[in-house]
Amino acid sequence: MGKQQICICNSLQEELQNIIVNTNHDHVFVLTDTHTEKYCLPLIRNVKGIDTAQMITIPADDINKNVESLSSVWSALSRHGATRHSLMINLGGGMVTDLGGFAASTFKRGIRYINIPTTLLSMVDAAVGGKTGINFNGLKNEVGVFNTSEYVLIDTEFLKTIDRTNLLSGYAEMLKHGLISTQEEWHRLLTFDMDEVNYEKLKEMVAASVAIKEKVVNEDPYEKGIRKALNLGHTVGHAFESLSFLSEKPLAHGYAVAFGLICELYLSHVNCGFPKTELQQILTFIKENYGVYAFGCSQYEELFELMTHDKKNESKDINFTLLSNIGEIHINQTASKEQIFEMFDFYRYSLGI
Ligand code: GLY
Repeated sequence: MGKQQICICNSLQEELQNIIVNTNHDHVFVLTDTHTEKYCLPLIRNVKGIDTAQMITIPADDINKNVESLSSVWSALSRHGATRHSLMINLGGGMVTDLGGFAASTFKRGIRYINIPTTLLSMVDAAVGGKTGINFNGLKNEVGVFNTSEYVLIDTEFLKTIDRTNLLSGYAEMLKHGLISTQEEWHRLLTFDMDEVNYEKLKEMVAASVAIKEKVVNEDPYEKGIRKALNLGHTVGHAFESLSFLSEKPLAHGYAVAFGLICELYLSHVNCGFPKTELQQILTFIKENYGVYAFGCSQYEELFELMTHDKKNESKDINFTLLSNIGEIHINQTASKEQIFEMFDFYRYSLGI
């Protein structure tokens, strides 16, 4: 997998123009969804090379990260004469960068592409590291390939207009990156004021967060080993997310991860000696900022069942990444059903459910 160049931009327009001017290509395509077409495209519309580019727009939201949208992108590329020497620019959140990355990676066996993430979640996670794909058969990210974009251009100015839910959703992935890095990074994240956002400080923290992910991905691009550290909070988080989709109140991905982190750090405490103080710190932070995700003991079996179907499991055991301290990572950990139910008890008791 090629190395990705990640740029935290001072001027997105200038960076983009430089890249377009210095890249050999015959056509430029810009992929947006209906939301980013309206709110983000105007910011780059006058950049040289974008002004003459062919626009492709797909419907917004994760529900449209499907084979129909993918097919519509392939059709548009084909109809407008894309060749192996064309360049595709994905402008949007994780849905656009995942689907667009997959479309570019497969069209004519692969064309070059650039990600311009517009949400916090896509800046610190989805757009970085080459995981591309679509949902299929009711399963998230079921079909896809590993293939990095040539560049990721991050402009944190976009964060000034996203809503609090989206901000917190991305911030959960930043908390995860802090937990697998250093005490210093972890404390910077815990003490950041989510109510009075300092965007200059946030920009520095985004850069640090992306660097943490980049280091892990460079070491293990295909998730054979240490990249599994990035799954911290996600084994339980995905089960919460799936369960919530069956109700009237679906959880945003990052919220599910935040609640998953509480559970998996409890398991880390019990199985690997993760310190109680840090467990209490994250509990307080998540409760104050994310609220609670409520479920009863009658749903433990269903959650357990959802966890056994997680594609991260390599055998019938449920696979976890756990920590013995901040930055001390243990991949390929398992837990008994009894321990998992105790973990749910701890979560509900601690959050007062
Ligand atoms: N989102 C986790 C990873 O990229 O591996």
